[in-house]
Amino acid sequence: MVIDKTAVIGFPVDHSLSPAIHNYWIKKLGLDIKPYEKINVNPNTFEEQINSLKQDGFGGLNVTVPLKEIAFNISDETSGVSKKLRSANTLTLGSDKINGDNTDAAGFINSLDKKTIEENIANKKTLVLGAGGSARSVVYALNQLGGHVRLFNRTTEKAEILLNDLSINSSPIGTEELDDYANSSSFIVNTTSLGQKAGEHNNILSFENIKTETFIYDLIYNPKRSSFLEKAVAKGLKVQNGLRMLIEQAACSFQIWHEIKVDASDELISLLESM
Ligand code: ATR
Repeated sequence: MVIDKTAVIGFPVDHSLSPAIHNYWIKKLGLDIKPYEKINVNPNTFEEQINSLKQDGFGGLNVTVPLKEIAFNISDETSGVSKKLRSANTLTLGSDKINGDNTDAAGFINSLDKKTIEENIANKKTLVLGAGGSARSVVYALNQLGGHVRLFNRTTEKAEILLNDLSINSSPIGTEELDDYANSSSFIVNTTSLGQKAGEHNNILSFENIKTETFIYDLIYNPKRSSFLEKAVAKGLKVQNGLRMLIEQAACSFQIWHEIKVDASDELISLLESM
């Protein structure tokens, strides 16, 4: 069945780049479907609004924070990864049921070069900063890739809950241990929101004795180079921001709905960077 109408829903959703990404592919492929939209949806009336969007002909919805958990809860059928993360970022509205999936972890994995996975993640010490919604997908993904994951969060209890929920045999790191673990890690990823606001600095790590071969990833893509990445670059480390992950999770949703494999072309990356 052709899915004609798609959109991203959020609260708020105004700054989402998803329309630019999906519409780039829709146009590039010449698909005869409606442009991808963005729609604000209030969490308090989530289910009614989903039903109303379905009546309006929407067949595919991306879901952003803070609606991913509600989206999971109202889905009739959910994928394995969605169940594990208890969150859905991709809804497919069928005639009699709603399917919930989560493409964030796959988006993160697909954003990584094979070399980085082999040399910096598989069987290596990896460190995740933060224990929010995006940390869940990243920890799940790193564990799937064979990384030994440890987690640091300002609120340690949240890190503990996350590891328990994902059945990962690891423990949260305390502040006193953090720099030592970071210095022996091969892959470090920031999933906290620190550094997103202008003038805000992420000083969680000192970067003083990080190994030269360590790969530094920040999920933040605006600014293009966060203060966290700036520090890593100043140390000569390899870095990556979150734009590729954003595109790759969108590509996975696109494939679920339209059964077409799309990619993060240089043209698309430049388009998004210019916005
Ligand atoms: P997302 O869905 O993007 O992951 P989130 O669920 O709100 O967003 O999680 C935000 C993360 O950033 C959390 O790990 C949060 O730490 P707490 O769990 O202690 O709240 C972290 N974070 C936000 N502001 C922070 C700050 N000023 N210092 C350290 N960590 C911060």
